Amino acid sequence: MSKRLADKVCVITGTGGTMGRCAARLFASEGALVVGCDINASAAAKTVAAVQADGNDMMSIHPCDLTDAESARALIAAAIERHGKIDVLYNNCGMAYFEWFPKMPHELFKKTISEELDVYFHVTQAAWPHLVAAAGASVINVASASAKIPFKVLPAAAHMAAKGAVLAWSRQLAMEGGPHGIRVNTISPGVVETNQTRQFISDPAWWGPMRDKLMIQRPGQPDDIVPAAIYLASEESRWVTGADLAIDGGASAW
Ligand SMILES: NC(=O)c1ccc[n+]([C@@H]2O[C@H](COP(=O)([O-])OP(=O)(O)OC[C@H]3O[C@@H](n4cnc5c(N)ncnc54)[C@H](O)[C@@H]3O)[C@@H](O)[C@H]2O)c1
Repeated sequence: MSKRLADKVCVITGTGGTMGRCAARLFASEGALVVGCDINASAAAKTVAAVQADGNDMMSIHPCDLTDAESARALIAAAIERHGKIDVLYNNCGMAYFEWFPKMPHELFKKTISEELDVYFHVTQAAWPHLVAAAGASVINVASASAKIPFKVLPAAAHMAAKGAVLAWSRQLAMEGGPHGIRVNTISPGVVETNQTRQFISDPAWWGPMRDKLMIQRPGQPDDIVPAAIYLASEESRWVTGADLAIDGGASAW
């Protein structure tokens, strides 16, 4: 059986992170030519080693800070130099900062917008001409359940603003990309056990109320999320654009 992403050049951001590493491994196992990147060089290098240990290969640019437009352009240039095309852009990287709104310094708000929204803007704009040139490109933007619903124990004013913007921005890009054969969709995970959430999940005072919001009462795992991205990257989703896949144990459905 042919692999679902055979010969597709897939740029995945934040491959040093938990879901990014899972994505690099699963995309490569489906035949993708993965181009990864991360601001954290040692974590990104570990992902390359993990993909190689699986018997696959990937290239990775690290350290790469995608809040910086020039670094984003360099990542895309490196992908084009190696592979000559980009079929899939999977915007996954990011870092959020949490504080209750009345106490949130504006600097922290702007930092979250920069590290969760600007990081998608720069690399997508740099990739756009290549996505137009590709025969049916796919952009996958990781939003969040926090784009849609607040959680009682999550001081997420900045995170909700950033991920809500990712959701809305993606629909605009889907419209602009349509005539060029570019599909743009979002994935909105709920609480997934990763480097960013592990310590909170282990705190019963936090996890209790979060769990109560779940129809399936366990934290998500990276491999609950990444298969949706494989679907959105593949030909199987060829008529899917402007869509959001909520993968959140039911949190946003009630
Ligand atoms: N974990 C969750 O519960 C959850 C829920 C909803 C959405 N998400 C989203 O999923 C995505 C992946 O998050 P994760 O939970 O795997 O976290 P993670 O911290 O394990 O991975 C994020 C990666 O992004 C990298 N990164 C951060 N800023 C960067 C920058 N400026 N340039 C390049 N790389 C940068 C980090 O170094 C890290 O390796 C994020 O967009 C996050 O907001 C996570």
